[in-house]
Amino acid sequence: MGRLDGKRALITGSASGIGRATARLFAKEGARLTLCDIKAKENDQLAEEILDMGGEALSIHVDVGDPEAMQTAFQQAATAFGGLDVIYNNAGGATGNDGLITEIELDEFWHAIRLNLFGAVLGCRYGIPHLIEAGGGAIINSASIRALIGTSGADAYTAAKGGIVTLTRALALQWAHARIRVNAISPGVVLTDRVRGLLSDDDPIRLKTPLGPSEPEDAAPLAVYLASDESRQVTGAILPMDGGASVV
Ligand SMILES: NC(=O)c1ccc[n+]([C@@H]2O[C@H](COP(=O)([O-])OP(=O)(O)OC[C@H]3O[C@@H](n4cnc5c(N)ncnc54)[C@H](O)[C@@H]3O)[C@@H](O)[C@H]2O)c1
Repeated sequence: MGRLDGKRALITGSASGIGRATARLFAKEGARLTLCDIKAKENDQLAEEILDMGGEALSIHVDVGDPEAMQTAFQQAATAFGGLDVIYNNAGGATGNDGLITEIELDEFWHAIRLNLFGAVLGCRYGIPHLIEAGGGAIINSASIRALIGTSGADAYTAAKGGIVTLTRALALQWAHARIRVNAISPGVVLTDRVRGLLSDDDPIRLKTPLGPSEPEDAAPLAVYLASDESRQVTGAILPMDGGASVV
Protein backbone atom coordinates (compact mmCIF):
# COMPACT_ATOMS: atom_id res chain seq x y z
CA MET A 1 0.00 0.00 0.00
CA GLY A 2 1.34 3.45 -0.95
CA ARG A 3 1.65 6.32 1.51
CA LEU A 4 -0.31 8.56 -0.89
CA ASP A 5 -2.86 6.06 -2.14
CA GLY A 6 -5.91 7.88 -3.46
CA LYS A 7 -4.41 11.36 -3.01
CA ARG A 8 -4.98 13.72 -5.93
CA ALA A 9 -1.92 15.95 -6.11
CA LEU A 10 -0.93 18.90 -8.30
CA ILE A 11 2.78 19.76 -8.57
CA THR A 12 4.10 22.88 -10.29
CA GLY A 13 7.60 22.97 -11.76
CA SER A 14 7.33 19.21 -12.27
CA ALA A 15 9.43 18.86 -15.42
CA SER A 16 12.84 18.92 -13.75
CA GLY A 17 14.83 19.00 -10.52
CA ILE A 18 13.03 18.66 -7.19
CA GLY A 19 9.58 18.71 -8.81
CA ARG A 20 10.39 15.81 -11.13
CA ALA A 21 11.98 13.71 -8.37
CA THR A 22 8.96 14.37 -6.17
CA ALA A 23 6.47 13.52 -8.93
CA ARG A 24 8.21 10.17 -9.43
CA LEU A 25 8.07 9.35 -5.72
CA PHE A 26 4.47 10.58 -5.37
CA ALA A 27 3.52 8.26 -8.25
CA LYS A 28 5.29 5.30 -6.61
CA GLU A 29 3.38 6.07 -3.40
CA GLY A 30 0.05 5.91 -5.23
CA ALA A 31 -0.79 9.58 -5.86
CA ARG A 32 -2.83 10.60 -8.91
CA LEU A 33 -0.88 13.46 -10.42
CA THR A 34 -1.43 16.70 -12.25
CA LEU A 35 1.95 17.91 -13.50
CA CYS A 36 2.20 21.64 -14.30
CA ASP A 37 5.21 23.16 -16.01
CA ILE A 38 6.14 25.79 -18.55
CA LYS A 39 8.31 23.22 -20.37
CA ALA A 40 5.64 21.25 -22.23
CA LYS A 41 7.84 18.58 -23.86
CA GLU A 42 9.74 17.54 -20.72
CA ASN A 43 6.53 17.60 -18.69
CA ASP A 44 4.72 15.40 -21.21
CA GLN A 45 7.66 12.97 -21.13
CA LEU A 46 7.42 12.70 -17.34
CA ALA A 47 3.67 12.05 -17.52
CA GLU A 48 4.33 9.31 -20.11
CA GLU A 49 6.96 7.76 -17.85
CA ILE A 50 4.51 7.68 -14.93
CA LEU A 51 1.73 6.21 -17.08
CA ASP A 52 4.18 3.54 -18.31
CA MET A 53 4.90 2.50 -14.74
CA GLY A 54 1.16 2.07 -14.13
CA GLY A 55 0.55 5.44 -12.45
CA GLU A 56 -1.86 8.24 -13.25
CA ALA A 57 -0.59 11.59 -14.54
CA LEU A 58 -1.99 14.54 -16.45
CA SER A 59 0.48 17.01 -17.98
CA ILE A 60 -0.58 20.66 -18.21
CA HIS A 61 1.45 23.36 -19.90
CA VAL A 62 1.16 26.40 -17.64
CA ASP A 63 3.03 29.50 -16.55
CA VAL A 64 2.56 29.74 -12.77
CA GLY A 65 2.57 33.54 -12.95
CA ASP A 66 -0.47 33.65 -15.27
CA PRO A 67 -3.66 33.85 -13.16
CA GLU A 68 -6.05 32.73 -15.89
CA ALA A 69 -3.89 29.78 -16.90
CA MET A 70 -3.47 28.73 -13.26
CA GLN A 71 -7.19 28.87 -12.54
CA THR A 72 -7.84 26.75 -15.63
CA ALA A 73 -5.11 24.25 -14.68
CA PHE A 74 -6.60 23.71 -11.21
CA GLN A 75 -10.05 23.24 -12.70
CA GLN A 76 -8.69 20.74 -15.23
CA ALA A 77 -6.95 18.80 -12.45
CA ALA A 78 -10.08 18.66 -10.30
CA THR A 79 -12.20 17.60 -13.26
CA ALA A 80 -9.76 14.89 -14.34
CA PHE A 81 -9.46 13.28 -10.92
CA GLY A 82 -12.75 14.27 -9.27
CA GLY A 83 -11.10 16.74 -6.87
CA LEU A 84 -7.80 17.76 -5.33
CA ASP A 85 -6.10 16.87 -2.01
CA VAL A 86 -2.50 18.09 -2.32
CA ILE A 87 -0.88 21.15 -3.90
CA TYR A 88 2.89 21.46 -4.17
CA ASN A 89 3.84 25.01 -5.22
CA ASN A 90 7.35 24.01 -6.25
CA ALA A 91 8.05 26.03 -9.44
CA GLY A 92 10.75 28.61 -8.82
CA GLY A 93 14.44 29.25 -8.72
CA ALA A 94 17.03 32.02 -8.69
CA THR A 95 18.55 33.22 -11.94
CA GLY A 96 22.07 34.30 -12.87
CA ASN A 97 20.78 37.87 -13.30
CA ASP A 98 19.98 38.25 -9.61
CA GLY A 99 22.42 40.00 -7.31
CA LEU A 100 22.59 43.04 -5.09
CA ILE A 101 19.41 45.11 -4.88
CA THR A 102 21.47 48.23 -5.60
CA GLU A 103 22.69 46.76 -8.88
CA ILE A 104 20.21 44.34 -10.42
CA GLU A 105 17.87 45.27 -13.25
CA LEU A 106 14.51 46.16 -11.70
CA ASP A 107 12.85 43.72 -14.09
CA GLU A 108 14.78 40.92 -12.38
CA PHE A 109 13.10 41.82 -9.08
CA TRP A 110 9.63 41.48 -10.61
CA HIS A 111 10.64 38.29 -12.39
CA ALA A 112 11.74 36.73 -9.09
CA ILE A 113 8.60 37.84 -7.27
CA ARG A 114 6.33 36.65 -10.08
CA LEU A 115 7.89 33.20 -10.33
CA ASN A 116 8.78 32.48 -6.70
CA LEU A 117 6.03 34.24 -4.74
CA PHE A 118 3.12 35.18 -7.00
CA GLY A 119 3.09 31.70 -8.57
CA ALA A 120 2.60 30.15 -5.12
CA VAL A 121 0.01 32.80 -4.22
CA LEU A 122 -1.97 31.80 -7.32
CA GLY A 123 -1.54 28.11 -6.48
CA CYS A 124 -3.09 28.77 -3.05
CA ARG A 125 -5.77 31.12 -4.40
CA TYR A 126 -7.05 28.67 -7.00
CA GLY A 127 -6.21 25.49 -5.07
CA ILE A 128 -7.80 26.23 -1.69
CA PRO A 129 -11.42 26.15 -2.93
CA HIS A 130 -10.79 22.61 -4.25
CA LEU A 131 -9.21 21.52 -0.95
CA ILE A 132 -12.21 22.90 0.94
CA GLU A 133 -14.48 20.91 -1.33
CA ALA A 134 -12.42 17.78 -0.57
CA GLY A 135 -12.89 18.33 3.18
CA GLY A 136 -9.27 19.38 3.74
CA GLY A 137 -5.85 18.79 2.26
CA ALA A 138 -2.20 19.73 2.20
CA ILE A 139 -0.34 22.63 0.62
CA ILE A 140 3.43 22.43 0.33
CA ASN A 141 5.32 25.58 -0.59
CA SER A 142 8.94 25.88 -1.63
CA ALA A 143 11.00 28.22 0.55
CA SER A 144 14.82 28.42 0.63
CA ILE A 145 17.65 28.54 3.12
CA ARG A 146 18.06 32.13 1.93
CA ALA A 147 14.79 32.96 3.72
CA LEU A 148 16.01 31.46 7.02
CA ILE A 149 19.56 32.75 7.36
CA GLY A 150 21.23 35.97 6.26
CA THR A 151 22.70 35.65 2.78
CA SER A 152 23.43 38.17 0.08
CA GLY A 153 23.91 38.00 -3.66
CA ALA A 154 20.43 36.94 -4.76
CA ASP A 155 18.40 39.70 -3.16
CA ALA A 156 15.28 39.50 -5.37
CA TYR A 157 15.00 35.73 -4.93
CA THR A 158 15.67 36.05 -1.18
CA ALA A 159 12.88 38.61 -0.81
CA ALA A 160 10.46 36.36 -2.70
CA LYS A 161 11.29 33.31 -0.56
CA GLY A 162 10.90 35.38 2.61
CA GLY A 163 7.37 36.05 1.40
CA ILE A 164 6.81 32.30 1.01
CA VAL A 165 7.74 31.70 4.67
CA THR A 166 5.32 34.29 6.03
CA LEU A 167 2.59 33.34 3.55
CA THR A 168 2.89 29.71 4.64
CA ARG A 169 2.45 30.58 8.31
CA ALA A 170 -0.45 32.96 7.65
CA LEU A 171 -2.34 30.46 5.50
CA ALA A 172 -1.72 27.69 8.03
CA LEU A 173 -3.54 29.76 10.63
CA GLN A 174 -6.30 30.91 8.31
CA TRP A 175 -7.22 27.49 6.98
CA ALA A 176 -6.69 25.12 9.92
CA HIS A 177 -10.45 25.22 10.59
CA ALA A 178 -10.98 23.66 7.15
CA ARG A 179 -8.33 20.95 7.86
CA ILE A 180 -6.04 22.48 5.23
CA ARG A 181 -2.43 22.15 6.33
CA VAL A 182 0.12 24.56 4.86
CA ASN A 183 3.84 23.84 5.20
CA ALA A 184 7.04 24.68 3.34
CA ILE A 185 10.21 22.82 2.51
CA SER A 186 13.32 24.96 2.76
CA PRO A 187 16.11 23.49 0.62
CA GLY A 188 19.77 24.46 0.87
CA VAL A 189 22.00 23.55 -2.05
CA VAL A 190 20.27 20.91 -4.17
CA LEU A 191 22.25 19.84 -7.22
CA THR A 192 19.59 20.09 -9.91
CA ASP A 193 20.74 20.74 -13.49
CA ARG A 194 19.87 24.43 -13.08
CA VAL A 195 21.88 24.79 -9.86
CA ARG A 196 24.88 22.82 -11.20
CA GLY A 197 25.08 25.44 -13.96
CA LEU A 198 24.62 28.38 -11.61
CA LEU A 199 26.63 27.63 -8.49
CA SER A 200 30.38 27.93 -8.22
CA ASP A 201 32.40 25.32 -6.27
CA ASP A 202 33.27 28.03 -3.75
CA ASP A 203 29.68 29.22 -3.17
CA PRO A 204 29.52 30.12 0.56
CA ILE A 205 26.34 28.12 1.30
CA ARG A 206 27.76 25.08 -0.48
CA LEU A 207 31.06 25.31 1.46
CA LYS A 208 29.38 25.56 4.84
CA THR A 209 26.95 22.67 4.41
CA PRO A 210 27.94 20.07 7.03
CA LEU A 211 26.45 17.11 5.14
CA GLY A 212 27.40 18.52 1.74
CA PRO A 213 25.00 19.39 -1.11
CA SER A 214 21.75 17.45 -1.60
CA GLU A 215 20.30 15.71 -4.65
CA PRO A 216 16.72 16.38 -5.89
CA GLU A 217 15.71 12.91 -4.65
CA ASP A 218 16.60 13.97 -1.07
CA ALA A 219 13.73 16.49 -1.03
CA ALA A 220 11.05 14.13 -2.35
CA PRO A 221 10.51 12.03 0.84
CA LEU A 222 9.89 15.19 2.86
CA ALA A 223 7.19 16.21 0.38
CA VAL A 224 5.62 12.73 0.63
CA TYR A 225 5.50 13.12 4.40
CA LEU A 226 3.90 16.58 4.21
CA ALA A 227 1.38 15.39 1.61
CA SER A 228 0.41 12.26 3.53
CA ASP A 229 -1.84 11.85 6.55
CA GLU A 230 1.30 11.00 8.59
CA SER A 231 1.77 14.76 9.01
CA ARG A 232 -1.87 15.39 9.98
CA GLN A 233 -0.82 17.48 13.02
CA VAL A 234 1.88 19.44 11.18
CA THR A 235 1.02 22.87 9.82
CA GLY A 236 2.78 26.22 9.53
CA ALA A 237 6.15 24.42 9.57
CA ILE A 238 9.14 25.49 7.51
CA LEU A 239 11.16 22.28 7.27
CA PRO A 240 14.84 22.71 6.33
CA MET A 241 16.31 20.18 3.89
CA ASP A 242 19.74 21.73 3.68
CA GLY A 243 22.35 19.26 4.94
CA GLY A 244 22.56 21.26 8.17
CA ALA A 245 23.59 24.54 6.51
CA SER A 246 20.99 26.62 8.37
CA VAL A 247 22.30 25.61 11.81
CA VAL A 248 25.96 26.50 11.19
N1 LIG B 1 17.97 23.58 -6.17
C1 LIG B 1 18.26 24.31 -5.10
O1 LIG B 1 19.42 24.39 -4.66
C2 LIG B 1 17.17 25.04 -4.37
C3 LIG B 1 17.48 25.68 -3.17
C4 LIG B 1 16.48 26.35 -2.49
C5 LIG B 1 15.19 26.37 -2.99
N2 LIG B 1 14.93 25.73 -4.16
C6 LIG B 1 13.56 25.82 -4.66
O2 LIG B 1 13.07 24.54 -5.04
C7 LIG B 1 12.16 24.67 -6.13
C8 LIG B 1 12.59 23.76 -7.27
O3 LIG B 1 13.91 24.13 -7.65
P1 LIG B 1 14.79 23.23 -8.64
O4 LIG B 1 16.20 23.49 -8.31
O5 LIG B 1 14.27 21.84 -8.65
O6 LIG B 1 14.48 23.98 -10.02
P2 LIG B 1 14.55 23.47 -11.54
O7 LIG B 1 14.95 24.65 -12.33
O8 LIG B 1 15.33 22.22 -11.64
O9 LIG B 1 13.02 23.13 -11.82
C9 LIG B 1 12.08 24.15 -11.81
C10 LIG B 1 10.96 23.78 -12.76
O10 LIG B 1 10.04 24.88 -12.76
C11 LIG B 1 9.66 25.14 -14.11
N3 LIG B 1 9.26 26.53 -14.26
C12 LIG B 1 10.07 27.62 -14.31
N4 LIG B 1 9.34 28.72 -14.48
C13 LIG B 1 8.05 28.33 -14.55
C14 LIG B 1 6.83 29.02 -14.73
N5 LIG B 1 6.79 30.36 -14.87
N6 LIG B 1 5.69 28.30 -14.75
C15 LIG B 1 5.71 26.94 -14.62
N7 LIG B 1 6.84 26.24 -14.44
C16 LIG B 1 7.99 26.93 -14.41
C17 LIG B 1 10.89 24.82 -14.93
O11 LIG B 1 10.56 24.57 -16.28
C18 LIG B 1 11.42 23.59 -14.20
O12 LIG B 1 10.89 22.40 -14.73
C19 LIG B 1 12.19 26.16 -6.53
O13 LIG B 1 11.09 26.83 -5.94
C20 LIG B 1 13.48 26.65 -5.93
O14 LIG B 1 13.47 28.04 -5.64
C21 LIG B 1 15.87 25.06 -4.86
